[in-house]
Amino acid sequence: MDFIREINKLKKEKNAIILTHCYQNIEIDEVSNFVGDSLYLSKMAAKTDADIILFAGVYFMAQSAKLLSLNKKVLLPNMDSGCVMADMIDVENLKIFKAKHPNIPVVCYINSTAEVKACCDICCTSSNAIEVVKSLNVPKVLFVPDTYLGSYVQSKLKNVEIITFNGFCPTHLRIRVEDIIKARKEYPDAIILAHPECHQEVVKLADFTGSTKEIMEYAKKSSNKKFVIATEKGVVDRLNRDSKLEGWDKEFILINENIICPNMKKNNLENIYQTLLDEKNEITIDDKIAAKAINCIEKMLNLDIVNA
Ligand code: 13P
Ligand code: SF4
Repeated sequence: MDFIREINKLKKEKNAIILTHCYQNIEIDEVSNFVGDSLYLSKMAAKTDADIILFAGVYFMAQSAKLLSLNKKVLLPNMDSGCVMADMIDVENLKIFKAKHPNIPVVCYINSTAEVKACCDICCTSSNAIEVVKSLNVPKVLFVPDTYLGSYVQSKLKNVEIITFNGFCPTHLRIRVEDIIKARKEYPDAIILAHPECHQEVVKLADFTGSTKEIMEYAKKSSNKKFVIATEKGVVDRLNRDSKLEGWDKEFILINENIICPNMKKNNLENIYQTLLDEKNEITIDDKIAAKAINCIEKMLNLDIVNA
């Protein structure tokens, strides 16, 4: 079956759009309306007048899309595509963490479930975490679930103490200091770009740190010709494709061949087709939880900062 043709036909018939995270299998771009990072896709979900949003990403991303467009049907091709980091915290262990550090505002990385967001004060993404923490203007914050993103923010802000939960991304933690040292030797004229979910030592050795979208924008604008990328493979695949298509004459190298998020790769053209055809795997969220979680995300979106 020509899945690309059939999916595009279904999208028209059903007034549906497909939002695709840049860690997805690259062939999904052929049927996507928007491809980008989690913040950009949430904003597109909030803006669209489509009736159906199919989210090619992981569970928390589809949940965020649903929170920002409650009257729409949001579908996820594979309901088992969770984010390992998001699943490291639940309401119970969040309560314990808060009880250990009472009366401190909680900043919640968007890589978390709606239930967890509902118990936090404000949301952030990897592109605006520093600005979100700064905006609170308080001496202490709790940061969940990613201890590495929290530590990265701490390294940039001196006037606030950031107490982090002990979550992490197993995919980004596969990037080791030795990989950076090896890349420097092998590609001495390359710029190294890293995601803040990486080990702090890796981030310190990189030339630039940013969200997936920031990494892609930096690479596109730079006059350098060679880049080593310390984030998920999907970003490298897209940069190399765009370089070829748009004649940038640039080369993008994945820091180590194992930097693949297995859950992100659970979506493919076949399960996207089937999900859209049957309108199955719909995301639903309890009304009370949704109201509180929306508040957490909207506080971030309402901040007057460039990346909010
Ligand atoms: P972005 O917010 O940069 O899209 O990252 C999401 C993610 O899951 C990174 O591992
Ligand atoms: Fe979650 Fe890591 Fe996969 Fe991102 S790369 S979705 S943080 S497990």
